[in-house]
This record gives sequence, C-alpha cells and structure tokens, in this order.
Amino acid sequence: MRTKLAAGNWKMNGTRAMLSELDAMADAAAKGTAEVLICPPAPLLAAATGHGQVAIGGQDCHSAQSGAHTGDVSAPMLADAGARFVILGHSERRTDHGETDAAVRDKCKSAWEAGLTAIVCVGETLAQYESSNTLDIIGGQLAGSIPDAATGHNLVVAYEPVWAIGTGKVPTTDEIGNVHDFIRARLERRFGAGVGRSVRLLYGGSVKGSNAAEIFATSNVDGALVGGASLKAADFVPIIDALNASS
Ligand code: PGA
Repeated sequence: MRTKLAAGNWKMNGTRAMLSELDAMADAAAKGTAEVLICPPAPLLAAATGHGQVAIGGQDCHSAQSGAHTGDVSAPMLADAGARFVILGHSERRTDHGETDAAVRDKCKSAWEAGLTAIVCVGETLAQYESSNTLDIIGGQLAGSIPDAATGHNLVVAYEPVWAIGTGKVPTTDEIGNVHDFIRARLERRFGAGVGRSVRLLYGGSVKGSNAAEIFATSNVDGALVGGASLKAADFVPIIDALNASS
C-alpha cells in the first residue's frame, strides 16, 4: 500500500511571513494518512521545519556534496536544514538551467547519498504532446534520469506535462491514467515488481481543489505535485483533504 503524498512546490515565492500558511496545512495533515510536503525556496528551509506533520523538501540540489560551486546547494545541506525530500529535474530547471537527464541522474545519486527522497519530474512539451510523442519522451526521461538503486523509499516520480504547468490546462483523466500506467509498467520492468509497485507517482500541472478529487481517482495516481495552489493554505488544504478522501 503506497502512502499518498500531497507535495507543494513554492518555486521562487515566499518570505518568512508566508510560513504561517504551514500551520493550517499541518492541521489538515493531522486529520488524515496522506503525507504532506512543502518545498520552499532554500533560504526558508530551516525556518519551515517544525510545523507538525508537514515535511520539508528542497527544489533542487547540486550533484556534488560540497565544493567550489557558487550559488548552489548540496543534498547534505538540504538534509542538515531539515529536508527529507528534494524535487529534481523540474521542467523549469530543465528549461532555465539546461538540465539534462544525465545531470538529473547525478543529482539523484547525491540526494540518495544524503538520505533524501528524490521526486524526479518527467513530462512532455506541448509540441511533443501534439505530435503524440508523450510516452516516448517519458520513457526516455525515466531511463535517463533515474539511477539504478531506486526503491519505494528513495524515489517518487512526478508526471508534469510542461504545457499544464501554471496554465490552467489539464490533460483528461484518461490521458493522465495512461501515462501513469506506462510509468508504473516501466518502473516494474526495470526495477522488478516489488520496487516498481512501491514507488509513488504524482501528477502535477494546474492541480486545484476543484479538480483534485477527479485526478486522485485516476489509475496509479498516488498524489500531486502542486505549484500555485500550494502557496496558500486556503488553496492547498482542499487538495490535502481530497487526497485523504480518495481511496
Ligand atoms: P502548477 O505547478 O500547480 O502551478 O501548475 C506545478 C509544478 O510546477 O510543480
């Protein structure tokens, strides 16, 4: 049985004043069995810990554990600040910073060495979606971005169609289900049925309180990676509640 996960990605938003939002999220987390995670900007990590059952994660890490890499943050630093998770290979990192699958795989190894659970993001662009290349793209990203030592504990995969992020556009639940079933099959084929079935699969891209229940009822969807609607408790709590209400 996979524990559901409601993960919020604050991206480059928020100062310490926003951390009060975590209190109501912690209240919602305490009411159910789903895990609740917020990934704030790195300067807020340490201050974001200690809000009940709200786990904290980073949004990226360097592949090295330390060294001369100005402006970067390493996985052991995230862990030291209280993070348990790290998002890797988000499409904004892949686009803004040219991150390749190989770079994501190296970061993932570093995250695992530091004891973090990596949330590896995959997803097709609009052009790839429109030319029906979605499964080829996702298959390639999975093969290239995930190292060999994956387990149900150290890996979460987030399927985030690039064209659905921050746009209000969402694939149909059939489309989401097809991609999640495909990801599950690929993980089972590569890592064996035990590991493949234990890795949690999140959907991300314009998840809101109003569409969460429908998405959570979809095959192989174990939760969501939420951007805009994770910034305020008033928007994120309905998503947490919908996840807890899903079977
Ligand atoms: P969104 O972002 O919920 O604002 O669409 C999702 C994400 O980028 O993780």
